[in-house]
Amino acid sequence: MTMPLRLGVNIDHVATIRNARGGNHPCPIRAAHVAAAAGADGITAHLREDRRHMTDADIARLVQEIDLPLNLEMAATDEMLAIALKCRPHAACIVPERRAERTTEGGLDAAGQQGMLKPLVERLRDAGIRVSLFVAPEARQIEAAAQLGVPVIELHTGPYAHSGGAAAELGHLRKAAAMAKQLGLEVHAGHGLSFANVGPVAAIPELSELNIGHFLIGEALFSGLDAAVRAMRARMDAARA
Ligand code: PXP
Repeated sequence: MTMPLRLGVNIDHVATIRNARGGNHPCPIRAAHVAAAAGADGITAHLREDRRHMTDADIARLVQEIDLPLNLEMAATDEMLAIALKCRPHAACIVPERRAERTTEGGLDAAGQQGMLKPLVERLRDAGIRVSLFVAPEARQIEAAAQLGVPVIELHTGPYAHSGGAAAELGHLRKAAAMAKQLGLEVHAGHGLSFANVGPVAAIPELSELNIGHFLIGEALFSGLDAAVRAMRARMDAARA
């Protein structure tokens, strides 16, 4: 039997629009409720060091007010560790972060930063937070993640998405997912996924979760968030069937 594929809806860009005018509208917490009602399995939010979209208060409210598990995307810094330990999200996904980037551009260098990541991963794990590492679909990164003892990795689908769904990039994702599963890791994927490119990724049998944000929030302008989430879910389910 194929594993069910969860959909984590990333609501960062609801906050981007809110922050354009500095008020409370549109409210990312409301978006999380709408996504939940439309069939999302989890909510993902990235608290960036520059707070360009989500705020500390948003994260605290998401943990308290949303019934779905919250996946907090965070940089590997002491500040973010302290926030995660205080808020206790269900999961924390460690992502690389550079202030000048428009979005998360590359995967985490788990192989090159094992020493720095180890204590952080341990503190999160000891607090009962499910840790994942956002990595490129490369063997050395997956091996490093397994050595660090995290339960989950999230494969970076950006290069696949930006290549227009190139077969070679899809091949890297397939191979990486199979390898990670073999090593006992739970495998998620995300970045740049849309109606047009989600199918082949959703069909990778080792994947158990996709995290999708920017496209869904953009699409919500035209169809509404409820319809956008439902349509994404339907595409994922069709790819798995
Ligand atoms: N997964 C991770 C680790 C991310 O950093 C992001 C972007 O915040 C996403 C998934 C979602 O990417 P997108 O907004 O392009 O769907």
